Amino acid sequence: MKDIVRTPAWAALAAHHRDVAPRHLRDLFSEDPGRFPRLTLELDGLFLDLSKNRVTDETLRLLRDLAREANVPAIVARMFAGEKINLTEDRAALHTALRNRSGNPVMVDGHDVMPDVEAVLKRMDAFCDAVRSGTWRGASGQPIRAVVNIGIGGSDLGPVMAVQALAPFAPPDLAFHFVSNVDGAHLHDTLLRLDPATTLFIVASKTFTTQETMANAATARAWLVAKLGEDAVPRHFVAVSTNAKGVAAFGMAEANMFGFWDWVGGRYSLWSAIGLPIMLAIGPERFGEMLAGAHAMDEHFRTAPLEQNLPATLALIGVWYVNFFGWPHHAVLPYEQRLARFPAYLQQADMESNGKCVRADGTPVTCATGPVLFGEPGTNGQHAFYQLLHQGTPVVPADFIAAANSVTETGGHHPMLLANFLAQTEALAFGRTIIEVVEEGPVPPRLVPHKVFPGNRPTNSILLRRLDPYALGMLVALYEHKIFTQGVIWGINSFDQWGVELGKTLANRILPELLGGAAQPHDASTSGLIRQVMAWRDKPA
Ligand code: F6P
Repeated sequence: MKDIVRTPAWAALAAHHRDVAPRHLRDLFSEDPGRFPRLTLELDGLFLDLSKNRVTDETLRLLRDLAREANVPAIVARMFAGEKINLTEDRAALHTALRNRSGNPVMVDGHDVMPDVEAVLKRMDAFCDAVRSGTWRGASGQPIRAVVNIGIGGSDLGPVMAVQALAPFAPPDLAFHFVSNVDGAHLHDTLLRLDPATTLFIVASKTFTTQETMANAATARAWLVAKLGEDAVPRHFVAVSTNAKGVAAFGMAEANMFGFWDWVGGRYSLWSAIGLPIMLAIGPERFGEMLAGAHAMDEHFRTAPLEQNLPATLALIGVWYVNFFGWPHHAVLPYEQRLARFPAYLQQADMESNGKCVRADGTPVTCATGPVLFGEPGTNGQHAFYQLLHQGTPVVPADFIAAANSVTETGGHHPMLLANFLAQTEALAFGRTIIEVVEEGPVPPRLVPHKVFPGNRPTNSILLRRLDPYALGMLVALYEHKIFTQGVIWGINSFDQWGVELGKTLANRILPELLGGAAQPHDASTSGLIRQVMAWRDKPA
């Protein structure tokens, strides 16, 4: 496998970095009045301002050469064609088929998957209509008033993020809860507020073997059965999974299961039946709009030249910072309270995809890969960690996300929110010089250095018209394809996640010890901690 670090394209970027690194964004802007129009892209109401990045036209040209060197266009085509690009799991990565609105077939192993996708969507539509209209009744004849999604990772983060993002499109008399943590407190505190007669549980697990989900589902089932009896289960439990046998073994009828397929990665699954809570919240029609937004981004990513390609360009600028500036962090800062869970969603999408030190062919990587991603909604983040973004020693490239309109304009707040969104990227890019500090008015000399902002801190601004289902679909697909493009450049498989296995295996080995079984050999620290936990555990009454 080609080592991207040893290519002429990489060497050209390394040499170019020496020219660009000392330059300040203040100069890049003042020398070039055409910078903003040239470094902005737009697609269907999603506007991307790249101009506050530490790049020149030459940087972008060289980065695109790097993408060609890494075969990005050809590998993108292979993903859309259903080839098994997830080599370690011998699977296709076809989340794009789930939102394929083209009418064209999508083949996996010689089989067109589109009729299967459509059939599940149709069943989801009918089920959601029934629940939302009150036709679907609980065992005691009452309509559903609360939906509890039990799942974790990709079977939780996408749905919880999207249900929250699109809250204004949901009926006010249907509440949504998400239980993911194996910590019983999560389920306990959720159940406290619920009436079993009006509650619907969705057990969401691609594998239907995940410890956390199985434990939460079993406890929730026992709670329901204790209140309403065994016969109530089919009216209050549905499953979403690829594992029909596992669902049956849990005691759920096939009629209550919504399936998907092994070519849907967990963290790319919100478009599949895993999106059932989203469809219950916003209805089938709006769910279709979300799929359409993602499809528009798919078509753009698949067909637009690298020069105009939004996901590819975001990816390349990320590579520029991680590999050439050596900045290992990335912040995602939505100026939209309803995107509060978007950074957490992206943490899994990005860090589980590209947090790898071994390439797809099993050889070690020779450069840094996925960054540490974090974020919080603005303006809350401003009053928490932005101090470090402005004046700290690490430079943290950041994506700022906002919508020109609020779906629920309230009390004139939105212009205040947008003013903060705009002010922050301006402050990060341009900072404040000593001269500006002094010119602003009398300031004690000892305070001058504290009031200086270095600036030159890069940001992308992503502006939506409003956060509606179509825009959310575009936004999520934008990041999915960004992540994939980076994985291709680094030569890693963005669709497996072997790194989460070891902890699961060790937890399974430790659990019997905590339940009173024989001590197992561990390192001194782990054995000592187990003894301490056991000494402090309350004895069962
Ligand atoms: O965290 C590892 C992981 O396998 C994720 O990739 C996945 O989204 C999550 O666990 C949940 O898995 P499942 O949907 O099979 O319960």
